[in-house]
Amino acid sequence: ASSSSLNAAVVDWYALHARALPWRRDSTTAWHVLVSEVMLQQTPVERVTPVYEEWTSRWPTPSALAAEPSGEAVRAWGRLGYPRRALRLHAAATAIRDRHDGVVPEDVDELRALPGVGEYTAAAVAVFAYGHRHAVLDTNVRRVLARVFDGTALPAPGLTAAERAQALGVLPDDRSTAARWSIGVMELGALVCTARSPRCGVCPVREWCRWYDAGRPAYDGPLRRT
Ligand code: ADE
Repeated sequence: ASSSSLNAAVVDWYALHARALPWRRDSTTAWHVLVSEVMLQQTPVERVTPVYEEWTSRWPTPSALAAEPSGEAVRAWGRLGYPRRALRLHAAATAIRDRHDGVVPEDVDELRALPGVGEYTAAAVAVFAYGHRHAVLDTNVRRVLARVFDGTALPAPGLTAAERAQALGVLPDDRSTAARWSIGVMELGALVCTARSPRCGVCPVREWCRWYDAGRPAYDGPLRRT
């Protein structure tokens, strides 16, 4: 594809610069990926890390969590905030035990049918845990794509069909490369192509970036609700 050198630049950058986060270990299971993604939905990485370690060592499988009262899940959630997420993870663990023989499903539609699992989380598990080829669109990825391909500082509020098609269009054909591209774009958005102080000087995709070319114009689209 025409974006293959852009893809390679991101994949290579990730291999050198990715944070060694606990859910990126080789031993990470699909259940661990699901737990981490639900925790990371509304809580920063630094606060998630200790609770993630406690949860995954205490409940290494969905069935282990499902065997306990849901109140234990809430208690172990600690101060992560939005504790309904703990109840939904407990409900998801129960559904995985009862409907999927205790194995986190690979299929995005089956994942989405689990409590607390939306479009992003389903794609994240399918891609990061199982290596499937799907677009993974969180706020970091959406911002990188908006800058590189549309030349806008930020994506407009609300994920559109056009963005899904764009993300699919730049996804490498090969599954394993696609998975590494997806996590790489996300990490690039978290570490370099940040919302408020992008570090274009060290960006591996600057040469392909319409926003950088245009002199980094301020966002002038519709505003997010605050
Ligand atoms: N790695 C995979 N998903 C992540 C996320 N949501 N936040 C930070 N690192 C991640």
